[in-house]
Amino acid sequence: MSDIAQHIAVSQRVEIEDLDWELARKHGLSDKEVESLMFFADIESQTVYYFLEVAKLQVARDPELLTFLTMWNYEEYFHSHAITRIMQECGVKVENATDRSTKVRTGARFKAKFEDFVQSLMAKFTPKRFVALWMFWGALQECLTMQAYEEVIKSTQNPVLAEMFRRIAKQERRHFAYYFNQARERLDHNPQNQKFVRYIVNKFYAPVGGGVKTDAEAAGLVAKLFPGERIYEVMQYIERRMAQLPGMTGLTACSDWAEKIQPILPEEIRSARPEIIGEHKNAAAAA
Ligand SMILES: [Fe+2]
Ligand SMILES: [Fe+2]
Repeated sequence: MSDIAQHIAVSQRVEIEDLDWELARKHGLSDKEVESLMFFADIESQTVYYFLEVAKLQVARDPELLTFLTMWNYEEYFHSHAITRIMQECGVKVENATDRSTKVRTGARFKAKFEDFVQSLMAKFTPKRFVALWMFWGALQECLTMQAYEEVIKSTQNPVLAEMFRRIAKQERRHFAYYFNQARERLDHNPQNQKFVRYIVNKFYAPVGGGVKTDAEAAGLVAKLFPGERIYEVMQYIERRMAQLPGMTGLTACSDWAEKIQPILPEEIRSARPEIIGEHKNAAAAA
């Protein structure tokens, strides 16, 4: 079955109606969890605006891509909806997902708007290369999203939050797989695309959400979620996955970002960059 046929077969809104809200309330959410959940809900809710931007591009008018984007957008919307619901059930004062997303977008930083503009220029002048970058970028971000949900699953005392996030993470893995396979197809035997994507990623990599938060806020939230050395472990994991794509051996853009943000983090969560271990080290040195 092709990737897209697989999505069509299994795509759905994340199921939450059967969750035990009574149990969720009994365990409640920690302050740190509320902060992370607000951040996740904001990012998930912005997918629709990203979707609107890319849908304007001629390169997105490929039937298969549009099919994927439609399902992806639908699923991400319900991630935000589910996260908002558990916060409300646990007594956190939060607006409904749609109101919040509209407000977040109105406050979208100049950076987000500028990125939309640069994106439209790239897509116009180098459409094929742009799609390679877009798919690679999508895989990078979905990979981090997966790690973020899994981090909460491991650390939370709330079994209902853990179950909800397991279900969301399952969909994030599917999103990742789609972007990753698409990126592979577009990078394979195409050294120019490889060079271009690598250049942009090295220069501009930052976790998703930077446009709707200030750089310092977004960095702080990511680093709080993965405190100390954990941020490097996660970034190295992402790099190892992405390094499997053609031309990406020894990629260090994500760890470089983690190192770069250290000075703007609160002191108690800062950490020095650890040594890279194993095969990736040799590849990074050679790159
Ligand atoms: Fe999501
Ligand atoms: Fe996703």
